Amino acid sequence: MLKTHTCGELRLTHDGQSVKLAGWVNRVRAQGGVIFIDLRDRWGITQTVVDVQSAPEAHAAAEKVGREDVLQIEGTVRARPAGMTNPNLATGEIEVEVRQLRVLNAAKTPPFDVSSDGKVDEALRLKYRYLDLRRHRLQRNLILRGKITKAIRDYLYERDFVEIETPILFKTTPEGARDYLVPSRVHPGKFYALPQSPQQLKQLLMVAGFERYFQIARCFRDEDQRGDRQPEFTQLDLEMSFVEREDVLNLIEGLMIHLVQVAAPITGCQLVTQPFPRLTLQEAMLKYGTDKPDLRYGLEIVDITDLAAQTGFRVFAENAAAGNPTRALRIPNCGHYSRKQLDELTEIAKSAGGKGLAYIALESGDSGQVKSPIGKFLSVEQMSALIERMGAQPGDLILIASDTHATVCAVLDTLRQEFAARLGLADPKKIAFCWIVDFPLFEWNADEQRWDPSHHLFTAPMPEDIPLLDSDPSRVRGQQYDLACNGYEVAGGSIRIHDRALQEKIFGLIGLDVEDAKQRFGHMLEAFEYGTPPHGGIAPGIDRLVMLLAGEPNIREVIAFPKSQQAADLMAGAPSEADPHQLAELHIRVVTAPEER
Ligand code: AMO
Ligand code: AMP
Repeated sequence: MLKTHTCGELRLTHDGQSVKLAGWVNRVRAQGGVIFIDLRDRWGITQTVVDVQSAPEAHAAAEKVGREDVLQIEGTVRARPAGMTNPNLATGEIEVEVRQLRVLNAAKTPPFDVSSDGKVDEALRLKYRYLDLRRHRLQRNLILRGKITKAIRDYLYERDFVEIETPILFKTTPEGARDYLVPSRVHPGKFYALPQSPQQLKQLLMVAGFERYFQIARCFRDEDQRGDRQPEFTQLDLEMSFVEREDVLNLIEGLMIHLVQVAAPITGCQLVTQPFPRLTLQEAMLKYGTDKPDLRYGLEIVDITDLAAQTGFRVFAENAAAGNPTRALRIPNCGHYSRKQLDELTEIAKSAGGKGLAYIALESGDSGQVKSPIGKFLSVEQMSALIERMGAQPGDLILIASDTHATVCAVLDTLRQEFAARLGLADPKKIAFCWIVDFPLFEWNADEQRWDPSHHLFTAPMPEDIPLLDSDPSRVRGQQYDLACNGYEVAGGSIRIHDRALQEKIFGLIGLDVEDAKQRFGHMLEAFEYGTPPHGGIAPGIDRLVMLLAGEPNIREVIAFPKSQQAADLMAGAPSEADPHQLAELHIRVVTAPEER
């Protein structure tokens, strides 16, 4: 080894020892005849000192050293002089007096400062990702990610799960996104699809009798990118036989608690919901306006449809008559908002699809005065009933949306998140999980005039709802569950259909004809005829989980080489044109539309 110790290792107990260190130059400072070089590796930073008196050759070499050069030094550990210790550095009580210095490799001046986590344009960070990865923040995140992956494996191996790899070159998997296709050279005109998840394969592993399977699986989905989405991402994919919903939820709840414990010493994160609250989808929508509520804070939505219906405000009355709700949020201590600030809130409501935003601002103190554009439509009694329903205090602001259920949810969800940010309620160190259950099995697709599965087409209906498949599919609940955390969906799963006849019936309802279903999923239907155990599973998204445990705002911060928002690798330049020979071998001709040329 070119080093005897890491740059994070030496302490006062090493005083007087001769050591070799190797790493990158974090910082250089010259002071009189002495040059201080802070040497960095992934374990930490050690101050080394090169004195022109005692080591003239090393000093001459040190004079030419620059940031990010790779050095090896040999020297002696010594206590720093009194008053010169650095309490912010684990090695801050010592320094290494250098005898010999070798430049193992000189570095060009990096395009941004690697020694700090200061803000740098993200495109530049992605282009020089290997330099970005040298910085403390990403080192910490990726080391955390590795520990989380190991903790997942340990937890599941202890519970007798088998880790099995499934193919990347496969057939289309219906998870609702577009597939990435891979052309076949051997089979002209045919394509593999990269898996959107190992869904079918893990079910087939249950048919195969493994009973408890898991995989740290890479999944590929061609969909619009967002902060919590990447074209390729990683799931903990898991499936179990002879289980009921409760078994899967308990296993995963235990795992998540364990993962927070593993992350806590590294990131300071803290679990704030235990046991995990369980909400039906309907409760989540009514209280929080979303199927992935952030339970780190309250700001719950209150239904005021009945009160609103009695007022003279036309919008409220018309919506009530049409069966639409009116719901409101109470924002503490924002009753002083100016007209301009309130107009901004209306714009936020409109950007979420609302037509407007009514408000009631309560003056602070005992005046009992309110400011509201709809005040004139409410009697004194109606106003006080509304204030009482909201539990509002002097100084509070009430925000009211009246529209279809979906729009009211969208508007109040957006405003709830907006105020959590403004009021500093969403502490990134807090981790608040909750389960969402009782999803409808289908969603109506008005464009295609058919039912779409709300999870995926292998999810089993609630047994008691099976008769409704014929009479009223909209009321059939699925045995589906989602895990939400801090406003993100971090896992989704279900108990599956294990019966061919029921599976065929679901295919029918979602408009897959028998031939089509056979072509796409014939292998599943056939397998179901050879003794398929009842089974179910789930898939937590590892990128999102690590993002939340690390307190990061997007998943790119916890992925070594992520794609940009435009699904490009800015470092390697992917995607890129293919060689004409390669294309010919693959039987592919690229036709560029005139506007793309
Ligand atoms: P689902 O589609 O809900 O379920 O995905 C499971 C979890 O994977 C994560 N996830 C993503 N993470 C990053 N980028 C993406 N583009 C992305 N898409 C999904 C989310 C999500 O909760 N086969 C089923 C699971 C099952 O039924 O067992 C499935 O894939 O955290
Ligand atoms: P108007 O009668 O259009 O002047 O609206 C009076 C107030 O009601 C304004 O503050 C509007 O933003 C608000 N408003 C309009 N439509 C809605 C709606 N659908 N829900 C809640 N408030 C609304």
